[in-house]
Amino acid sequence: MKKVLFIYFSQSGQLEEIAQAIAKPMIADQKAEIDFYEIKMVHQFPFPWTADAFFNAFPESFQQIPEEIHPPAPHILQTNYDLVVLYYQVWYLTPSIPINSFLKSEYAEKILGNRSVITVSGSRNMWALAQDKVKVLLQKNNATLVGNIALTDRHHNLISVITIVDWMFSGKKRKAYGIFPKPGVSDAEIKGATKYGDIIARHLGIGNFASLQQELVKSGAVDYRFFLVSMDQKGNRMFKIWSSIILKNKTKRKRLLVVFKYYVVFAIYVVSPLVYLVELLLYPFLYFLKYKKERQHYEGI
Ligand SMILES: Cc1cc2nc3c(=O)[nH]c(=O)nc-3n(C[C@H](O)[C@H](O)[C@H](O)COP(=O)(O)O)c2cc1C
Repeated sequence: MKKVLFIYFSQSGQLEEIAQAIAKPMIADQKAEIDFYEIKMVHQFPFPWTADAFFNAFPESFQQIPEEIHPPAPHILQTNYDLVVLYYQVWYLTPSIPINSFLKSEYAEKILGNRSVITVSGSRNMWALAQDKVKVLLQKNNATLVGNIALTDRHHNLISVITIVDWMFSGKKRKAYGIFPKPGVSDAEIKGATKYGDIIARHLGIGNFASLQQELVKSGAVDYRFFLVSMDQKGNRMFKIWSSIILKNKTKRKRLLVVFKYYVVFAIYVVSPLVYLVELLLYPFLYFLKYKKERQHYEGI
């Protein structure tokens, strides 16, 4: 019997639903024993969020400053898993504070060290550079990444900003103002994630993950959009400057976060459409210079 561990943290329950959908085939064929480990923070983040709490989480999220987590159950630390699946969400272009806190905790290497790991993100749509950051932490924990699934909100970037804000601040995954589409990963895609579970179960059965990622990508597991990666890169450069300034100026933190909030709105609704136009015009040139390689990188592991 193969042993699989699913690690997750989820405020709304979306990632837990995705984890259940992926686990379904493995539970059904009774060839794997599955444990779930939900990361629990000592200091909890609110859900629904208030605007203040949401922006206050920015500097520490982006700078990947860990917080204390409750220890996992002893049998999770003692079991020799054949596969670990790590579910995570992105906060400010970075793995969320709970996930980062786990990956930097004393428990991470005990659970992940010398193990095959599959990462599964459930984000709005900007997951690419966060995945690079997760890869660094997996390497530090001596884990071997064998697959990656990146589930996103497939609607237009500017629409998904409106709908996710409504979701995060109301706690309800609903059609914002009655006219917008539902936020987050769609119900159909969450249900359909069972197909990834089938692929994973097959590779787990034969004990070889060499062609896993290729098969996952073929079945739609990775949402690569050149423009989103480009915004992610630019956002990372700006967030680095903003987070350092805010963390250095402790007494001005509140005021700086207000300015940061307006900067984010301006960057999303004014700067990003202009950059999109320019990059669309340059697409034929940039495809060979940049995007082709980039797609390979983000569709790979
Ligand atoms: C503080 C905060 C920052 C976020 N930043 C991003 C981001 O930079 N990129 C992104 O694609 N999604 C972002 N999201 C959305 C999350 O990745 C995720 O989809 C959503 O919070 C639902 O996750 P849950 O499973 O914890 O409910 C952010 C969410 C929160 C709460």
